Amino acid sequence: MRNDDVEQALAFHNATKYYALSDSEPGDDRIGMGDPADRREAIWQKDWDIKPLLYKVYEGLAPIELPRELPDTGMPTLAAIAATGTSGSAAVPDKALLGRLGLLTNGSLDRTWTSADGREHHYRTAGGTGALYHLELYFVCAELADLPAGVYHYSAIDHTLRQVRAGDFRAALAAATGQEPSIAAAPVVLAVTSTFWRNAWRYRERAYRHTFWDAGTSLSHILAVAASARVAATLVLGFADAAVNALLDVGGTRETAVALVALGHTEAAAPPAPEVGRLDLPTRPLSSAEVTWHALTDMHLASCLPTGADAGQWRSRRWERTPPPPAGPLTALAPLPADRLDARPPEQIIFRRRSTRKYDTDVEIPFAAFSTLLDRSTRGVASDVLAPGAPLTDLYLVVNGVEGLAPGIYLHHPRLGAVELLREGGFRAEATRIAADQRYAGDAHVNLYYLAHLPSILDRYGNRGYRLAQLEGALHAGKLHLGTHALGLGAVGSTAFDDEVVDFFSPHAAGKDYAFVTVFGKRRATSRTTRGR
Ligand SMILES: Cc1cc2nc3c(=O)[nH]c(=O)nc-3n(C[C@H](O)[C@H](O)[C@H](O)COP(=O)(O)O)c2cc1C
Repeated sequence: MRNDDVEQALAFHNATKYYALSDSEPGDDRIGMGDPADRREAIWQKDWDIKPLLYKVYEGLAPIELPRELPDTGMPTLAAIAATGTSGSAAVPDKALLGRLGLLTNGSLDRTWTSADGREHHYRTAGGTGALYHLELYFVCAELADLPAGVYHYSAIDHTLRQVRAGDFRAALAAATGQEPSIAAAPVVLAVTSTFWRNAWRYRERAYRHTFWDAGTSLSHILAVAASARVAATLVLGFADAAVNALLDVGGTRETAVALVALGHTEAAAPPAPEVGRLDLPTRPLSSAEVTWHALTDMHLASCLPTGADAGQWRSRRWERTPPPPAGPLTALAPLPADRLDARPPEQIIFRRRSTRKYDTDVEIPFAAFSTLLDRSTRGVASDVLAPGAPLTDLYLVVNGVEGLAPGIYLHHPRLGAVELLREGGFRAEATRIAADQRYAGDAHVNLYYLAHLPSILDRYGNRGYRLAQLEGALHAGKLHLGTHALGLGAVGSTAFDDEVVDFFSPHAAGKDYAFVTVFGKRRATSRTTRGR
């Protein structure tokens, strides 16, 4: 693998930092991005005539119907989110499971919301930045009991599959990952792609961070649904980008693969793959014109791996990170025992999930609920590069309303099953401020900030480590979001003013970078979802 110049990732990170505009500066959203000396508005979204279509639609490929019925798997959501992917691996994916994964991750909901300007907004089963839904799902399949071998696209607009290629191409995918063991043995591999423009239309270059925030959020659904189906699942982030993109027939700069998930396990070796020719299948145009944000595409290209051998070498850098021991007072978490978990499986909870932005500031949430969510959302996943139980990011908490826990700032120690008090005090106003002046953060019972020490992550993983730093917190937060609904609570993902976050958590967080934030708590009874950023 070439020696990365990781200055590129650091420069990209700085150029996409959010900061607060002063009252005297013009700008609708009160947010600037990048270097304040070179003022740039953070939110673009100037031209509604070119707002991208929310769906990828293949013109001319026949739809393959998928069932909509959801089985009761008997797997509690809080158990499914905590699964690390390898247990109960006997089950083999079938067409119904592919349909469930599509529907419960990227499926369209009937729910719409009309904003004051009369525009209608659509929703999906998984949340996403700005409800812009730039992710697509593909399945690379062996011959299944009820589906011929092929490469399929999940069509969110009508809940069907489209066959993009006929034949068993898994060997090509295994080669692209340098024979990553879970991919080489999987009857089905799910690929998540992002089409940058669909998010960058509003968020400009910062859409590259959102690519991995939203992918992490969606992956939390994918992995929970696979766990509830007792299908082995391994998240694979090391692959030769061009080879995977060629197989999916996506160009690689407009739409590009961002994650693979090996599903199931078979002893039978994949046959040699047919030749991967270019297809250029016609798809419905997204908009009449597109803007390319070059800093975004340059960052993406700088984090690509050229060959399967490079992917294998990258994977060998897997980091079992040991965080520093606590220096302050510890409070042991007291999670609910397994036999006291709400019984509803992810298949039910996901349809109840929505973003919660109104919180009941008159009550506290139970310490057991707080403990259960921290414990079960941070156990990690089976992965080629992320080690379960050894997160790359540190989890800082602003506790505003948890029974038996003094309000203040805490650090989660997953291996110790405890939180360390860093600073006691009421910080609701500060919580609102650092979450880009969003009031729900100050009202919420808990704010969770995932902070990354980018220099050491990039030193280990090169520029591709930037993807990991962005994705990991969002994956854990997505799991937590599902878990809140199994506990009668709610959550919302968020954005934040980068440097103000780090300052707020310093001196402890000095030198680290803001990667992601989510907040959760008890919904206010009269709560109504309002549109966010
Ligand atoms: C990664 C991520 C970041 C988000 N950031 C914000 C935010 O800063 N402010 C906000 O109000 N909502 C935020 N949201 C919530 C989205 O706006 C919401 O998911 C989307 O509008 C769809 O609504 P739903 O989650 O109720 O289905 C975020 C969601 C995700 C997944």
